[in-house]
Amino acid sequence: MARSGALIILGVLAMALAAGGAEGARAFFVFGDSLVDNGNNNYLATTARADTPPYGIDYPTRRPTGRFSNGYNIPDFISQELGSESTLPYLSPQLTGQRLLVGANFASAGIGILNDTGIQFANIIRIYRQLDYFEEYQRRVTALIGAARTKQLVNGALVLITLGGNDFVNNYYLVPFSARSRQFALPDYVKYVIAEYKKILRRLYGIGARRVLVTGTGPLGCVPAELAQRSRNGECSAELQRAASLFNPQLVQMLNVLNREVGSQVFIGVNTQRMQNDFISNPRAFGFVTSKVACCGQGPYNGIGLCTTASNLCPNRDVYAFWDPFHPSERANKMIVQQIMSGSRRYMHPMNLSTILALDSST
Ligand SMILES: *[C@@H]1O[C@H](CO)[C@@H](O)[C@H](O)[C@H]1NC(C)=O
Ligand SMILES: *[C@@H]1O[C@H](CO)[C@@H](O)[C@H](O)[C@H]1NC(C)=O
Repeated sequence: MARSGALIILGVLAMALAAGGAEGARAFFVFGDSLVDNGNNNYLATTARADTPPYGIDYPTRRPTGRFSNGYNIPDFISQELGSESTLPYLSPQLTGQRLLVGANFASAGIGILNDTGIQFANIIRIYRQLDYFEEYQRRVTALIGAARTKQLVNGALVLITLGGNDFVNNYYLVPFSARSRQFALPDYVKYVIAEYKKILRRLYGIGARRVLVTGTGPLGCVPAELAQRSRNGECSAELQRAASLFNPQLVQMLNVLNREVGSQVFIGVNTQRMQNDFISNPRAFGFVTSKVACCGQGPYNGIGLCTTASNLCPNRDVYAFWDPFHPSERANKMIVQQIMSGSRRYMHPMNLSTILALDSST
């Protein structure tokens, strides 16, 4: 009995060593838009960037990094939960050698599910290009540690993908009578976007992803930028809220279909709409003085234009749910990741990240 117990423990240890190896924690890969970009756009000729103050004012270096946050963003807090350093942007020249084994962040502010989303930002890394880079990454790692260990690293990794918001705010609703809004009624547009997202997730699976956190959109109509442009009395924009409430449930259904197709719980739905709605409906319960006014910006709700050195800047970023007109503050990001870790099924479908980490370490 004692002997077989010891053997089991040895077996588990051997498997943990094989999976993590000398590299330690499991690798982490990030795809998507500005909610998760940690600096790729710094290397591109685009207007979608966060590399000037006051971005990064609460980051450990107190300097801008390209994250659309006053400090850390969602991927940073997930890396902390994995016990890893933050992943580097894929375009960073520092991403070489052993650092490749931590993972990589391929995200690029401004992009969407559709190729025509964010065209006004010129050179950004559209999602298919991010996936091409992931394949290139795997070739680079193969040269370093060989094909078998690379496959293990990729299959054993955690993946985060955040897409969809820009397909509404920077496409369908970007201007009145946009090309997409003339082409599709909103419910048909949502169906189209979801069908295109399914192709992207299939490809991600095809190139090795086996545990993928897929976030829905936040409450699009309630962000300070939309309150400034569309709201009379501070109520959320009904039209954008309608978009989010059509998109998010269909996303979960689509993930269910994909999971059945691949025969395993690969895709995990993260209900960011519900997580952020909690702050928005009762900011004080979460220690925020407001969820309507951005910390950094100008005009009504500090929701007009960009956050720059000339903007209003709040003294205490921790009491604002929104850092800039579109993006959560560092503290809101931290609370979102706490829900990703331990939220109930209302927030995490079909299970939370702590359950996933426990499951994956025991198989
Ligand atoms: C978007 O671009 C990719 C790569 O360039 C292409 O494979 C894909 O078919 C395009 N999607 C649509 C809907 O045109
Ligand atoms: C989520 O995580 C917590 C542990 O932090 C666990 O107790 C709980 O049962 C989990 N919930 C679900 C729905 O998996």
